[in-house]
Amino acid sequence: MRLSFISGVALLQLGIAVTNAATSHQQSNTKGFPSCDSPIYCEGPLLRAVQLAELFPDSKTFPTSKPVDKVLSIFDSIGGSNATKDELRVFVNENFLSAGSDLNKLNMTIPKPLPWVNEIQDDEYKNWIEYLHQAWGDLIFEFNTAGLCDGCVSSTLPAKLPFVVPGGRFREFYYWDSFFVIKGLLLSNQNELAKGMIENFLDFIQEYGFIPNGARIYYLNRSQPPFLVEMVRAYYETTGDDSFVKKALPTLDKEYTFWIGNTTVSIADSVSGKRYQLNRYNVENTSPRPESYAEDYKTAYDGTNFTTTQVIDLFSDLAAGAESGWDYSSRWSKNRIPEVGDKNGYAILRTLNTRNIVPVDLNALLWSMESNLAEWHTKYGGRSSRSAKRANYYKKQANKRLDAMEKILWNDEEHMFCDYNLTSKTQAIEFSPASMYPFWLNAIPERVKSPKHLTHVFDQVRDALSKYPGILTTSLFNTTMQWDWPNGWPPLQYITMQAMLNVDNLLNKQNHKDDTILPMMYTLAERNVATAFCSWYKTGGKIPGLLSKYPGATDDGHMFEKFDVTNIGGAGSGGEYTVQIGFGWTNGVTMWLFELFPNMTAPDCESSVTYNLS
Ligand SMILES: *[C@@H]1O[C@H](CO)[C@@H](O)[C@H](O)[C@H]1NC(C)=O
Ligand SMILES: *[C@@H]1O[C@H](CO)[C@@H](O)[C@H](O)[C@H]1NC(C)=O
Ligand SMILES: *[C@@H]1O[C@H](CO)[C@@H](O)[C@H](O)[C@H]1NC(C)=O
Ligand SMILES: *[C@@H]1O[C@H](CO)[C@@H](O)[C@H](O)[C@H]1NC(C)=O
Ligand SMILES: *[C@@H]1O[C@H](CO)[C@@H](O)[C@H](O)[C@H]1NC(C)=O
Ligand SMILES: *[C@@H]1O[C@H](CO)[C@@H](O)[C@H](O)[C@H]1NC(C)=O
Ligand SMILES: *[C@@H]1O[C@H](CO)[C@@H](O)[C@H](O)[C@H]1NC(C)=O
Ligand SMILES: *[C@@H]1O[C@H](CO)[C@@H](O)[C@H](O)[C@H]1NC(C)=O
Repeated sequence: MRLSFISGVALLQLGIAVTNAATSHQQSNTKGFPSCDSPIYCEGPLLRAVQLAELFPDSKTFPTSKPVDKVLSIFDSIGGSNATKDELRVFVNENFLSAGSDLNKLNMTIPKPLPWVNEIQDDEYKNWIEYLHQAWGDLIFEFNTAGLCDGCVSSTLPAKLPFVVPGGRFREFYYWDSFFVIKGLLLSNQNELAKGMIENFLDFIQEYGFIPNGARIYYLNRSQPPFLVEMVRAYYETTGDDSFVKKALPTLDKEYTFWIGNTTVSIADSVSGKRYQLNRYNVENTSPRPESYAEDYKTAYDGTNFTTTQVIDLFSDLAAGAESGWDYSSRWSKNRIPEVGDKNGYAILRTLNTRNIVPVDLNALLWSMESNLAEWHTKYGGRSSRSAKRANYYKKQANKRLDAMEKILWNDEEHMFCDYNLTSKTQAIEFSPASMYPFWLNAIPERVKSPKHLTHVFDQVRDALSKYPGILTTSLFNTTMQWDWPNGWPPLQYITMQAMLNVDNLLNKQNHKDDTILPMMYTLAERNVATAFCSWYKTGGKIPGLLSKYPGATDDGHMFEKFDVTNIGGAGSGGEYTVQIGFGWTNGVTMWLFELFPNMTAPDCESSVTYNLS
């Protein structure tokens, strides 16, 4: 996900940091490119000693209760990097606050009623959705660093307005998650909250030149899939607030500049030799990711014999993998076969090649950015020649990208958009839902719009859904990475189903009836809500008078971030941290599905539930 880390191993909970950190990072801004340079949260012997000591079961948080200079000198006084694990434990307990002490939960009650919820015919489902609607209240926070001790500063990136966090270990907001959260908030009539989240992102672009992975200082080295324009579009489509779009426009331009300036590659077509420009995830990084320090450190050094260049490449590919949102996946690794007993997937991670893969999802998102910016500059840019020029520029960029996607990423025989591998100079023709992005966003070259291709773009989705009874798998590789089989992720279900609606529509417009697409979509929708519902039920979710608590369940029902595609009702697993609950994007996608299909009926989760393709 936006999910960028690793667990099982541990570090600290970095939450709050230090005055100096904020200052020095201001300074680095004036030099141009921001970077993460806090001596506590970003790099240096303290971070390294504490993270490598693995004091906690997860790596992510460590707030300080004392000013940075004091903390650093106390660290020196216990021997710095020579301190023992016990000394470090005492040091951390005495000098850092607990995780989350820089957050205020807002305790909002979300007002009823929602007309679309009343359309839901099944009582269990209807009550469950009302519960999910209220559950936003548990995920709405604001940063509060004012209450911290004098001189203490948080690792948060200051954000003016309240936000929804994904949940679990993710106690700050994330970039691409927020799109799916915003979709849900708009369905819950939380338009102001949705708008505020977008405004926080616009502020980040003004402050840092781009949107960091998430709202922490240690995320300043990378972004995440560029969904901001999609958020603005979703907000606009619900509210009609075009003055907001107009106001956001110059900032959106700025984000575009970041992606073009930092991620563009030029690729020669193997047949014509003509060069095309496309984009890839690209982070330069010379050290372990601060929030996953021990994990990255071991990946690079434990039992390996990498040269310095190889280590730096690996740290960069790890960071670029986190930027992609798919951390980690067979899409980015040369090796796809885990070594026996290697639960951490080191043998795979050590072959990451992220920066040499030109991803179809990223390029579809950038095409959409270009198209929307062209449209908005035409509509809202006024008559100045500057905005006319910009509109023209974006139109050209969009056309060039679509041409490049057709020549470099599209595969005629497979009827499929592929990633392109810069190392082999060939397409990677393995299926993943990333290939659905162009059909969702309408980044479709004319030639591909013919029924000859459109009637086949879901062939592999259909195969995967026939093979596994749960939601759509993330890939067909069993790697232990979390963005691979057997995990399915709510955002990718959303994108696939939107692609189905769009392709069905494009075929209808050509008077070509394909009566397989929408029924497949409906089945996938049923599987999505059933698996989220049954996993919630099996972890203790109950509905008074309708559904009693699952025998033996000790919790109160969890919404998971990912699911097991080999059944209905199983949470996902694998990867670098334990499965998280909350969960923003799952709630958003579930709501969207009930708005579309209020006639779905809740299964009996205790019998084995199946939803077969017709
Ligand atoms: C750690 O111990 C070594 C060996 O005694 C010493 O050379 C080094 O200076 C010490 N490092 C720190 C940070 O005190
Ligand atoms: C939310 O509720 C908690 C627990 O009752 C309370 O400690 C906290 O101060 C409340 N937050 C706000 C912003 O009112
Ligand atoms: C990330 O850090 C590296 C140094 O490790 C720096 O060269 C690069 O510009 C930084 N990137 C961002 C996006 O801050
Ligand atoms: C990367 O993006 C930042 C922010 O837009 C910009 O300042 C920087 O110059 C870019 N780097 C390159 C190499 O274009
Ligand atoms: C690591 O590689 C270097 C250079 O190739 C070599 O000299 C050294 O013996 C290797 N060490 C191990 C432990 O394999
Ligand atoms: C890319 O191509 C290289 C060279 O053929 C190959 O080793 C690698 O497995 C391919 N895939 C990835 C993700 O790097
Ligand atoms: C997937 O990989 C794991 C670990 O390598 C292995 O234990 C399991 O049997 C594999 N499952 C399938 C269905 O291939
Ligand atoms: C629910 O509605 C969808 C689309 O409107 C339809 O395809 C489906 O068959 C309906 N399901 C039931 C159980 O009636």
